[in-house]
Amino acid sequence: MAFARTCSVALVGVDGVIVEVQADLEPGVAAFTLVGLPDKALSEARDRVRAAVVNSGEAWPQRKLTVGLSPASVPKSGSGFDLAVACAVLAAAERLDPSSIAELLIIGELGLDGRVRPVRGVLPSVLAAADAGYQRVVVAEQTAPEASLVPGVTVIGVRSLRQLIAVLTGAPAPEEPPDPIGGRPDPLMAGLMLPSAGVRGLSDDKSARLDLADVAGQYEARRALEIAAAGGHHLYLKGPPGAGKTMLAERLPSLLPPLTQKEALEVTAVHSVAGLLPAGRPLIDTAPYCAPHHSTTMPAIVGGGSGLPRPGAVSLAHRGVLFLDEAPEFPVRVLDSLRQPLESGEVVIARSAGSLRLPARFLLCLAANPCPCGRHSRRGEGCECTPAMVSRYQGRLSGPLLDRVDLQVQVAPVTRIELMERDATAENTETVAARVLAARERAATRLAATPWRTNAEVPGHELRTRWQLAPGALNDVARQLERGVLTARGLDRVLRVAWTVADLAGRDRPDQRDVRTALVLRTGVEQGLPLGERVYGRLGGIPAQRSGPVDEPPEGQSRSGRFEKPDRPDCPDPESPGPESVGRSDRPDAPGRSIRSGSAKRSGKRDRHPANEGGEA
Ligand SMILES: Nc1ncnc2c1ncn2[C@@H]1O[C@H](COP(=O)(O)OP(=O)(O)OP(=O)(O)O)[C@@H](O)[C@H]1O
Ligand SMILES: [Mg+2]
Repeated sequence: MAFARTCSVALVGVDGVIVEVQADLEPGVAAFTLVGLPDKALSEARDRVRAAVVNSGEAWPQRKLTVGLSPASVPKSGSGFDLAVACAVLAAAERLDPSSIAELLIIGELGLDGRVRPVRGVLPSVLAAADAGYQRVVVAEQTAPEASLVPGVTVIGVRSLRQLIAVLTGAPAPEEPPDPIGGRPDPLMAGLMLPSAGVRGLSDDKSARLDLADVAGQYEARRALEIAAAGGHHLYLKGPPGAGKTMLAERLPSLLPPLTQKEALEVTAVHSVAGLLPAGRPLIDTAPYCAPHHSTTMPAIVGGGSGLPRPGAVSLAHRGVLFLDEAPEFPVRVLDSLRQPLESGEVVIARSAGSLRLPARFLLCLAANPCPCGRHSRRGEGCECTPAMVSRYQGRLSGPLLDRVDLQVQVAPVTRIELMERDATAENTETVAARVLAARERAATRLAATPWRTNAEVPGHELRTRWQLAPGALNDVARQLERGVLTARGLDRVLRVAWTVADLAGRDRPDQRDVRTALVLRTGVEQGLPLGERVYGRLGGIPAQRSGPVDEPPEGQSRSGRFEKPDRPDCPDPESPGPESVGRSDRPDAPGRSIRSGSAKRSGKRDRHPANEGGEA
C-alpha cells in the first residue's frame, strides 16, 4: 500500500486542533508536494524531513510523493509536523507498518541529522489529543514531562527518528546522546521581560527569595499589596524614585495563593505556546510575574506577531501579576489596549484567517513617578518640571484605565529611621500570604453559588443588592455621593475593596471602618478627618510633641502621616481603631481635608482632579 496516515496537532491560540497527516506515493518522477495551508516554516519541512530520513539511514522513496494536512482550512504553522510527516512517508514507503502509526499522535521538529527537537505548545496539543480520544502520543524527550501532565495519555519521548522507528518496529532502541542545545529558548530572548524582572515563578527561585520583610516602612503600600492580593484588585503605586515601588510590586506574586490544578494547566499552556517553559519545570503552579519594559511593542503586550500568534505579556501574566513599571512611559495606545483584557479576562486577536482568544486574567500593578523628573510633590521642592509637563505626564494614564484600578497608593520616600533601624516586627511574605489565603477562602465561600471567586470580579449591582453591609457602613460614602465626589462606578469599586478589607479582618460583612479604608485606598486621599487628628490622633500626641528631626515624622509614623506603623504591621487589629478610623469623620461638620495638601484645600475639590481620582468625577 502506498498510502499512510497519522496525526499531529495545529495550534490556534492556546487551543489544539487535531490534524491528519496523510502521505501518498504514486509512480512517477520523484517529487515532494506538501498541501493543506502550510506556512513558510512548514513548507520547509520537505527539505528537513528528507534530510532527516536519509541521515537516519533510511531510503527516501524515489516516487511522486504528496503529503496532505487535513483539515486543509486550518492554517498550520511551525515545525511540529516534521516527525509525523516523516513517519507517514516511511509508512507509505512500507518501511513502517501503517497500522503502527494510525492511532498515534506525533509532535516534534526534525533536525537535518534526524534528531527530534521540542516544539512549543506541547501541553495544549496533548490536551487536545486526549479530548479527541488519543491514548498514545510521541514527543521530543525534553517535552515528555510536559506532555505527561495530561492524564490518560501514554507519552513516548524520543531523541531521534531512529529511536522512534525502532520503537515502532520492535527493534532495540539505539543509544543517542542528549541534545546539547536542549531546544529551549531563553525567556529573555523573547524580548518581553526586563533582564532583572522576567517571567518569574518559572525558571528560577528568585521570587522565593524576595521577602516582604525586606521592605522597610511603607505600611500603607504593604497593606494595599495585601488587599490587592486578597481581593484580586488592580493596584497603582505612585511615588518618587527610590521609594520602593518596584520592590513592592516584585513581592506581590508571592502573596497570591498557589494556583489550582486547572489554573496551573492554563498558565502552563500559555507559557508552553510562548516557548517559555523552563526545562525541568513542566508545570507552573505559582502565580507568574511579567514585567515588560516600557519600550515593549503592542504585539508583545497583547499578543500577536506574524505566523502563529504568540501570547503577549497580558497572557504570560495570566493568573499572576502584570507589572508596568514607569507606566506613563508606555505608549498610550499600549496602555489603552489593556482595557479589553482587564474587562473580559481574555484578549482577542483578529487575523485575516480568523480571530483567536488568549487568556489574560491578570492582576495589574502600575507604578509611576509623579512627573518626568520624579521630584514633583505638593511642596514642589526640587522639581524641574512645569505644571503642564506634570499634568501631561500624569494624564498619560487615561481615566478609563485608572477607573479599573481599585487601589491607588501614594508611596512616600522611606524615612531614614525606617531604613536604618531594622524593624524586627516587619511581617514576612509567608505571614501575609497566609492571611491572603484565608481571606480568599472566605470570599470564595461567600461567592460559592456565583460564577465569581474574588471580590474584584463581582459586578457592582450584585454587590449593592445581594450582600448587606453593617448598619451605617455607608455613611461616609453617602456623603461623598451627595457631594458628587464619588460616582456610582466609584461606589462599586469602594464596595469591592471594603469586602476584601472585611475578609482580611475576618468580619462577615464590612463596617464603616472597612468602607473608609477602601475609600482612602481607592482615591488615594484620606477623607473626613481634621488634619491634626489624622496625623497625631493615634499617637495621642500633638505636633509639638514630636521629638525627631524637623523633617522626620515621629517614631512609628510614615512621613505622609497617613498610615502609621500598626501594632501588627500591614493589618492593624480589626478591633483596635486603625489609622483610618481615628477621628470622628461621621461628624456632619467634618472638614474633609486632604492629608497631603497640608492646607485647608477642600478634599471635594481636589478629589475631582483626574490624576487623584482616576476619572471618578
Ligand atoms: N522601603 C524600602 N525598604 C528597603 N529598601 C528600599 C526601600 N525603598 C527603596 N529601597 C532601596 O532602593 C532601591 C530602589 O528601590 P525601587 O527600585 O523599588 O524604587 P522605585 O520606587 O521603583 O524607584 P523608581 O521610580 O526609580 O523606579 C531598592 O533596590 C532598595 O535597595
Ligand atoms: Mg521602579
